[in-house]
Amino acid sequence: MHPVVATVLLVFSCAVLALDNGLMRTPPMGWLAWERFRCNIDCDNDPKNCISQDLFRDMADRLVEDGWRELGYVYVNIDDCWSSMQRDAQGRLQPDPKRFPGGIAKLAQYVHDRGLKLGIYGDLGTHTCGGYPGTTLDKIETDARTFAEWGVDMLKLDGCYSNATTQELGYPLMSKALNATGRMIGYSCSWPAYQGGLPPTVNYSQLGEICNLWRNYGDIQDSWTSVLRIVDWFSDNQDILQPAAGPGRWNDPDMLIIGDYGLSMDQSQSQMALWAIMAAPLFMSNDLRTLSSSARFILQNKVAIAINQDPLGVQGRRLLKEKSGVEVFWRPLSEGASALVFFSRRTDMPFRYQTSLRKLNYTAGTYKPYDVFMEKPLGLLKDSTDFVVSINPSGVVMWFVPPAAQWQKQAERGRMFYSRSDQGNTRVLL
Ligand code: GLA
Repeated sequence: MHPVVATVLLVFSCAVLALDNGLMRTPPMGWLAWERFRCNIDCDNDPKNCISQDLFRDMADRLVEDGWRELGYVYVNIDDCWSSMQRDAQGRLQPDPKRFPGGIAKLAQYVHDRGLKLGIYGDLGTHTCGGYPGTTLDKIETDARTFAEWGVDMLKLDGCYSNATTQELGYPLMSKALNATGRMIGYSCSWPAYQGGLPPTVNYSQLGEICNLWRNYGDIQDSWTSVLRIVDWFSDNQDILQPAAGPGRWNDPDMLIIGDYGLSMDQSQSQMALWAIMAAPLFMSNDLRTLSSSARFILQNKVAIAINQDPLGVQGRRLLKEKSGVEVFWRPLSEGASALVFFSRRTDMPFRYQTSLRKLNYTAGTYKPYDVFMEKPLGLLKDSTDFVVSINPSGVVMWFVPPAAQWQKQAERGRMFYSRSDQGNTRVLL
């Protein structure tokens, strides 16, 4: 075959296979209702916290007014329990009329008017996990069209009350149906989480072709134990998961619970650091109206966000698991930079961990690390020089590590990023 013909064929076949919506070239960021607000539909007694249009408007307002949008947190995502128990006369899903009196299209308009995007939730089965109407195979096209007509920007398609065969048919079908609407709709698939998250049952190359992100594993709960369980599973299976991720296709270890009730400040920094290293979608599930300034500080850390959003889109890995309880994570970034996370699972006292960049497989040379949570540049560091980091129990030390020669350029990049996203916070970044 003529090489040009072969190339054209190859490009064509990729275009046909890929979820070619051009969306989510970096992990999506925003807010998602589930972990914090669950299926609270009691608007009579708990009007501020129930699943209603007001809750999503409130969160949209906060995202705009408290500086989140400029940092990239642009999705406002509805989860389960938004719909009416019945479809309408035309067989379409409809929102609960009491809790969403304006309808979803109006809510989407509200969100769009503020420069944000709206996400919605569906379930490929007879019912959603919360018992609301599901999207059976015969309803896929209708529901995709309905979401597009409403102006929805993202769909999380859950997998309760369905079986392996339905999922195998349904997840690709919804991908096609969303594409066919002509509206750019990011597609989050819970499929692997319902199939154990690992090959041979789960086919990650197929997932990358049909979904923008996917839940691989169980639900996060508001506890440190839950975060640890997730981190362990993702790290233990990183040889399979890490190559599956890339621009437009992300593993999703589930929501950020920073600002809720279960994590200390050190643990909150750990979740932020590890989610950044894992190139995870950053969906906060918290109450932005009452968030503490310390939680906000962590979630709005510009360098942690820049690491998460690095354009290279390579997921990081756990490099080491020391007997001391220290684990080291690493992620390669664009322009020869990288990120390191020193994570302590100890429960006694701050631990002084000694190592060198050479021991962490760095190529010979001089680097200039930046401490992400201390927000301060460190001195020049040769690969061969031993250094010590003091890591708090269940905490992290996170470094951004550009080669020294790249430092000036990186600093300029950092400053640009800083001035774009600054919301009256006067600390100097780099
Ligand atoms: C499943 C999902 C959660 C959430 C609930 C809603 O458990 O994994 O993220 O969407 O359903 O019922």
